Amino acid sequence: MAARGAPGPLIGAGRAADVYLIGADRVLRRYRTPFDVRAEAELMRHVGQAGYPVPVVYDADGPDLLMERLRGRDMLADLARRPWLARRHARTLAGLHDRLHQIVAPAGWPRAFGSGGTVLHLDLHPGNVMLTSRGPVVIDWSNAQSGPAGADVAMAYVIMASSEVDGLPLPVRPAVSAVRGAFVRQFLLAVRDDPGPHIARVARQRMTDPNVRPSEADWLARKAVEAERASEPS
Ligand SMILES: Nc1ncnc2c1ncn2[C@@H]1O[C@H](COP(=O)(O)OP(=O)(O)O)[C@@H](O)[C@H]1O
Ligand SMILES: [Mg+2]
Repeated sequence: MAARGAPGPLIGAGRAADVYLIGADRVLRRYRTPFDVRAEAELMRHVGQAGYPVPVVYDADGPDLLMERLRGRDMLADLARRPWLARRHARTLAGLHDRLHQIVAPAGWPRAFGSGGTVLHLDLHPGNVMLTSRGPVVIDWSNAQSGPAGADVAMAYVIMASSEVDGLPLPVRPAVSAVRGAFVRQFLLAVRDDPGPHIARVARQRMTDPNVRPSEADWLARKAVEAERASEPS
């Protein structure tokens, strides 16, 4: 792809990829480690054709995904600026889960977490929802699989409950933790599928993610044990 050797200004960075502006209306998302984005691009086209809000994909080559530039901020950044919208944003996130889980995965798509053939994003949390003038749009599809819808809800729950947010000054941490608590509770109330049966397996899988930090992995391990104990017959 022509853009590969000359990415433009950096406009976004997550734990796995850097995102560069290409011209006015496109971005190049580049993984920092070797990765083939073709499957991710195919799935984005699949859900886009089913009417789900994703960026338009123009090209996929090795670690590079060329796609539509979304204008707006992500839901996590918006929560930091407007924490009073926590419940509303949580309902929006729940709606994005519910809508996604009505889409059947492409034939032969890799399965995760047992039976069920719906598309699972497996990283569908506020940091991967861009709030744009055409509504919320979901990014970062690299973990997508097919499986039971509740597993996606469980993954979102464990990510939201365990992830550390970088760069928070000590005095604001209690307030951030209260907003996060309200957000997670509202999300679980509003979302359709039950995460309960999937929490242990999902937490154990998340622990193996190289981007997860040791303190997050400790939380996930405790959660997995707690969920396993709760499901044992008494
Ligand atoms: N299509 C896009 N348009 C505009 N900004 C984007 C787009 N895709 C990603 N970004 C920005 O780049 C950041 C990182 O992208 P993301 O796909 O979430 O990568 P990571 O896997 O590293 O989290 C996002 O939080 C967002 O700010
Ligand atoms: Mg991301």
